[in-house]
Amino acid sequence: MALEEGKDPAVTTRQNQAKSLPFGVLQLFALFLALCIAFSVVSIYTIRHFRIYGVVTTVKSSIVSCEEESNGLDRWIKPPSNLLHKMSDKELFWRASLVPRIKEYPFQRVPKVAFMFLTKGPMPLAPLWDRFFKGHEGFYSIYVHSLPSFDGKFPSTSVFHGRQIPSQVAEWGKMSMCDAERRLLANALLDISNEWFILLSESCIPLYSFSVIYHYIKKSKYSFVGVFDDPGPVGRGRYNENMAPEVNITQWRKGSQWFEIDRKLAIKIVEDSTYYLKFEEFCKPACYVDEHYFPTMLTIEAADLLANRSLTSVDWSRGGAHPATFGGADISEDFFKRIFENQNCTYNDQPSTTCDLFARKFAPSTLEPLLHLAPKVLGF
Ligand SMILES: *[C@@H]1O[C@H](CO)[C@@H](O)[C@H](O)[C@H]1NC(C)=O
Ligand SMILES: *[C@@H]1O[C@H](CO)[C@@H](O)[C@H](O)[C@H]1NC(C)=O
Ligand SMILES: *[C@@H]1O[C@H](CO)[C@@H](O)[C@H](O)[C@H]1NC(C)=O
Repeated sequence: MALEEGKDPAVTTRQNQAKSLPFGVLQLFALFLALCIAFSVVSIYTIRHFRIYGVVTTVKSSIVSCEEESNGLDRWIKPPSNLLHKMSDKELFWRASLVPRIKEYPFQRVPKVAFMFLTKGPMPLAPLWDRFFKGHEGFYSIYVHSLPSFDGKFPSTSVFHGRQIPSQVAEWGKMSMCDAERRLLANALLDISNEWFILLSESCIPLYSFSVIYHYIKKSKYSFVGVFDDPGPVGRGRYNENMAPEVNITQWRKGSQWFEIDRKLAIKIVEDSTYYLKFEEFCKPACYVDEHYFPTMLTIEAADLLANRSLTSVDWSRGGAHPATFGGADISEDFFKRIFENQNCTYNDQPSTTCDLFARKFAPSTLEPLLHLAPKVLGF
């Protein structure tokens, strides 16, 4: 017998294989069956426990693919994970202008502040911002609009990592600057949890800790847009009568570009075409549209919601067309003492000495001294 078996080893092996193969398949099948049963038990338990209906679709969709879009509320309230979408401005603005009519959110919504950085490219003060945001995840979102030629990437440890939005060239004094700001707003509006929107630049710094700034903005009755009526040649002097009747000279305003607005005003800006067309056609240099378009249209549309002051301080004391840029040698405790001493404004119609929450312009050389002084002077 032994010899016979040994005669044709190929047959023996084949027989062995034939015997062992079904056994392996059986094992696999049993395992699969066990998994199926376990899965069903877990599903049924979950469904019973959480009273989820529509069993079939729930189970099916979770089997098909984890990457497939969710059919729950998530798909409407989860912020886009990739900011580099392929929408044109026209498509983006339309999408951003969609507004829910039911005011009460059917989920726990933690209102966030969108920090929108209008930059040329690099963020030399990024380490200071990293420290400012640390520990406040879930209460802010960041958006960066840079020149399209800037292809730099922020390190994965930075809060700016992956936060660049599709950008186009923006020139001071031209409509392309307002377009960039609207683009920032529209992208930020896609996250339904963003409630307040702050425009900043790479040379801005925060003057207080995140918590102070968050609560200051949250508790304010007004949006912070610098708005004033300047009767002189660089104010009303830039008004063009062709803008009437949409814009009357008595409504013509001037103001700083660095705003903080709430969701309602952000949508007003993104959806606007009435004033946009007038400003595009009739406010060209020497009418600097970025100094007039938002202050004027927001005054016409929602004057009672504006604080008429900006949250961002600039120093014009050195004269000239541009505000002072501070360098490393300027930064000292005394420097900040002077900034904080000069505060005098109204907050929710009451006198206040906390007025400017941000300041500009700070050169890259200020980073080291700022990081050094921030814990003591700025509170972070
Ligand atoms: C501008 O508005 C003022 C006050 O609302 C009004 O008296 C004036 O006639 C208006 N001017 C024009 C050109 O419409
Ligand atoms: C801001 O100015 C507008 C007029 O341009 C006024 O109606 C509004 O009350 C002002 N806001 C505050 C807080 O005073
Ligand atoms: C703040 O400004 C108001 C009005 O301009 C003035 O009456 C008040 O004295 C100022 N307060 C301080 C502390 O400078």
